Amino acid sequence: MAATIIDGKAFAARLRARIGEQVTSLRRDHGLVPGLAVVLVGEDPASQVYVRSKGKQTIEAGMKSFEHRLPVETSETQLLALIEKLNADPEVHGILVQLPLPPHVNADLVINAIDPAKDVDGFHISNVGLLGTGQKAMVPCTPLGCLMMLRDHHGSLSGMEAVVLGRSNIVGKPMAQLLLGDSCTVTIAHSRTRDLPAVCRRADILVAAVGRPEMISGDWVKPGATVIDVGINRIERDGKTRLVGDVDFDSVAAVAGAITPVPGGVGPMTIACLLANTLTAACRANGLAEPEGLTA
Ligand code: GUN
Repeated sequence: MAATIIDGKAFAARLRARIGEQVTSLRRDHGLVPGLAVVLVGEDPASQVYVRSKGKQTIEAGMKSFEHRLPVETSETQLLALIEKLNADPEVHGILVQLPLPPHVNADLVINAIDPAKDVDGFHISNVGLLGTGQKAMVPCTPLGCLMMLRDHHGSLSGMEAVVLGRSNIVGKPMAQLLLGDSCTVTIAHSRTRDLPAVCRRADILVAAVGRPEMISGDWVKPGATVIDVGINRIERDGKTRLVGDVDFDSVAAVAGAITPVPGGVGPMTIACLLANTLTAACRANGLAEPEGLTA
């Protein structure tokens, strides 16, 4: 039986529309306009595309967008000074420093200089600790988007066997924490895991976040499992550049119960969740009730 396609593009559009309505009410009832500052250092082409897209969607949601594009030679001290300024700016409710940063900058130092209440990426050690201990945190956008789609598809995730393939701080580790928070039995697998296909075949929920094009094939997947593909890999095929996930879509879709496509799955949810986090941060900063269903 062919798998159900989980349409992240449509889900993200509905989420953005809901956020837009909330932003309109905030402006009307409280004169509050959520603001997101995005900092880009250098000219990495992929980062430039993401930052442009973030700015555009922020404005479309009725929020303020502040873009800071800095030259690649920007020093750590200069970057920290900008973060200080943004931390103190009452119009800025969310701060995102686009990664990767150039090698001469200590990314951990910069991220941990962001006010945790404005850390809409959820990368600050305080937010990592809050998430890990089940407290109210800013939750990283990509895993939050995956969780929203899983909850929407399954309702309760309680008792399900989840395997997260990948152990990054941006996706793998926070994804595992979120699934644990929803009472899944969670395994984090990675490149050194023994018999990776057998581990993946245990999963009712398989989240692939390894950055290896089409690595997961149908024989790695339990029949009926839900497969979330976080990978966004550019490959050359038949003389064309194509975007593919970490999952071999056709062979996995023939076995899985549900699957997110690439493109149009997790990707659009990430920016929608960034907007959700910015709205949540603006409400919390102003002592207002935060809209329901926008965070974990
Ligand atoms: N680079 C790749 N993914 C991300 C992300 O989620 N946040 C930031 N800040 N940089 C990234």
